[in-house]
Amino acid sequence: MRKSKEYEFNIVETEFPHQGIAYHEGRKVNIKHGLPGQKVLARVSKKNSNKIEAKITKILEDVDYKIKTDCGAFGDCGGCSHQDVPYEKQLALKEEQVLKLFKDADITEFDFLGIESSPDLFNYRNKMEFTFGDLEKGGELTLGMHMKGRSFGIVTVDDCRIVDEDFRAILSTVLEYFRGKELPYYRIMSHQGYLRNLVVRKGINTGEILINIVTTSQIEFNYEELVELLKETEYKGELTGIIHTFNDSLSDVVQADRIEVLYGREFIYEKLLGMNFKINPLSFFQTNTRGAEKLYSIVRDFIDETESKVVFDLYCGTGTIGQIVAPKAKKVVGIELIEEAVKDAIENAKLNGLDNCEFIAGDIAKVIYDVKDKPDIIILDPPRPGVHPKALDYVLKFNAPSIVYVSCNPKTLVEDLKAITANGYKVEKVKAMDMFPHTPHVETVVRIEKK
Ligand SMILES: C[S@@+](CC[C@H](N)C(=O)[O-])C[C@H]1O[C@@H](n2cnc3c(N)ncnc32)[C@H](O)[C@@H]1O
Repeated sequence: MRKSKEYEFNIVETEFPHQGIAYHEGRKVNIKHGLPGQKVLARVSKKNSNKIEAKITKILEDVDYKIKTDCGAFGDCGGCSHQDVPYEKQLALKEEQVLKLFKDADITEFDFLGIESSPDLFNYRNKMEFTFGDLEKGGELTLGMHMKGRSFGIVTVDDCRIVDEDFRAILSTVLEYFRGKELPYYRIMSHQGYLRNLVVRKGINTGEILINIVTTSQIEFNYEELVELLKETEYKGELTGIIHTFNDSLSDVVQADRIEVLYGREFIYEKLLGMNFKINPLSFFQTNTRGAEKLYSIVRDFIDETESKVVFDLYCGTGTIGQIVAPKAKKVVGIELIEEAVKDAIENAKLNGLDNCEFIAGDIAKVIYDVKDKPDIIILDPPRPGVHPKALDYVLKFNAPSIVYVSCNPKTLVEDLKAITANGYKVEKVKAMDMFPHTPHVETVVRIEKK
């Protein structure tokens, strides 16, 4: 098998994150977005002694369960991978992928409680980060998502189905407005240009909407006209803020050198399981609100008893999980890297009438060492790379009787579980939860007990 050449493959199974798996002359080949049962023509894009990857160029024989999708950008947009697969099948594939990772890591003999569905299959996202660009070099301005399988090229997603109609209205208004102004979009390679991102956040349970226009500081621009246009737009929810974020960083992530409030306030409130949460533009917040209520209920069930216990909420964001378990606990200690999120967490605890929560800002690997409380339960909810080995060492030194691990990446989860189980713990139960229908992502909650 040679790199850049096309071969025929029969896809027999899938692996996280939605990789079709085929075998060729005894070697495993990973085929992005392939489905078991498909016969495809695919070009080998990577080949070394560990891994072979190929990209589908043509589907020769398709599966018979595909369905029609309503999204005009599906297929071109890099956001959703499987809107054309029935939801029950999506869930079955995700469940299989999570279980395979546990089996390959030799983590067995736990109760597997299946996969929970997302309460909403469409219109579920409470945050979306759109990018300015063009579809073809020099083409008209686009605003949306990176194109599937391409490093450049932005496809306009004014028809996106995983956000609600308020997001679609805002995107269309902003795009049309800037098309008329002929402002250059920011080019990641040359670092030149102005328009970078449009970030929309909406409290699904409160209806509050925050619009965030992210640009470089290379051009001075007056936003009065656009603010009026956005205020006049009709929304199902309520527009509570418009902000302008200046971001001159060279990387492709949304960060803020400076924020200017153009209208209203720079944060929104959201309600989860009867509690109130203030969300700052830079704070992490679960992107599927009603899914988060289900996810946090699973976490609460996995903890079962918090009466007079000390709970550590590590990687706590705006303090959501900790506060949901705080009413019965003796004390909650939350640690989070983003200072603004910690400020929100402290304010949120007050808002929710809780006086037994302490939130600490800092890198867990650095600040956990100074925490004097002794935890009965540790909740871990790290970002995709998992728990840093140094932080995990400290976590294990606390010798807590129970750990509940909430993960958005089952690959790094099983790696961390190998280290945790090698230190006298046992995986008791596991439940997957689909927070991101139509995409390859899945959350997994694990309860771990000291042996
Ligand atoms: C998956 S989010 C979970 C947030 C929160 N538990 C929730 O459900 O909303 C992971 C969080 O870890 C934070 N984080 C990332 N690296 C960190 C580190 N080294 N130390 C502390 N927090 C970190 C991120 O800012 C983010 O808020």
